[in-house]
Amino acid sequence: MGTLDGKVVLVTGSGGGLGRASASVFAREGARIVGLDINIEANKETAELVRQQGGEMFEIAPVDLTDPDQVRLAVDHAETIYGGLDVIYNNAALVRFGPLPDYSVEDWRTTITGELDIPYFVSKFAWPHLVRRGGGVIINVASIAGMIGGEFPPMVGHAAANAGIIGMTRQLALEGARRHIRAVAISPGPTLTPLSDRDLGDDQAARDAITGKTLLKRFARPEEIVELAAFLASDRASYITGTNFAVDGGSTAW
Ligand SMILES: NC(=O)c1ccc[n+]([C@@H]2O[C@H](COP(=O)([O-])OP(=O)(O)OC[C@H]3O[C@@H](n4cnc5c(N)ncnc54)[C@H](O)[C@@H]3O)[C@@H](O)[C@H]2O)c1
Repeated sequence: MGTLDGKVVLVTGSGGGLGRASASVFAREGARIVGLDINIEANKETAELVRQQGGEMFEIAPVDLTDPDQVRLAVDHAETIYGGLDVIYNNAALVRFGPLPDYSVEDWRTTITGELDIPYFVSKFAWPHLVRRGGGVIINVASIAGMIGGEFPPMVGHAAANAGIIGMTRQLALEGARRHIRAVAISPGPTLTPLSDRDLGDDQAARDAITGKTLLKRFARPEEIVELAAFLASDRASYITGTNFAVDGGSTAW
């Protein structure tokens, strides 16, 4: 028996590193997954992985989640697949890094749109479905960049957007409580995904600069982040709402 038996989880960015791991762990716990991504191929690979592992996932792609009209259509479609939605896992994001003052207005807007608009749009259009279902859980994937400054890479847009996600989560929890909707945020520290591993390549100095702020002096594996998400999505976490959890190898402890 899984902790998410009978639940339907909507995962955004299900083709990416943390999104794929979350789909796999949620499915292992008995949930049926609807995965949204802009990347058709990557989303398909996730669905195949979930099925190989004995789980159920329906993929919807391409969806540009920065476009509110596409989000509304995709979320309404997602709700019909398994007859409802119980958990919204707001994981998709697009971010640009760079130092002041060179960080352009376009970098800023792309990041705020890619990191803050997406979870708002998805929450907004999923909300009526959760209310009709009698409640549910919204899990927003933020970042420790929303809690502390980050030296490497320079991240002004990322910091602002993720502080926004953490603030938005509190408000969703407040407005959702009377509707039996819980809202929580998870703030990962540096997590090594296939994409970031490839991008960092053999640049050991960059790897050390990123992991130096952790107490454990290493990256997280995606599974180390999403195990908490599976718990928070389950009824075992029924008294947890309105808060943010750092899963960061101790980065925010000092
Ligand atoms: N990897 C880390 O070190 C780290 C650390 C802290 C927080 N996070 C957060 O975790 C989440 C996932 O990160 P990741 O490392 O797996 O990223 P990723 O880039 O591997 O995955 C993001 C996914 O979102 C999708 N996506 C991007 N823009 C989209 C759009 N407009 N419409 C639909 N889909 C879109 C991408 O196609 C991709 O599949 C993000 O919210 C990120 O901010 C990651």
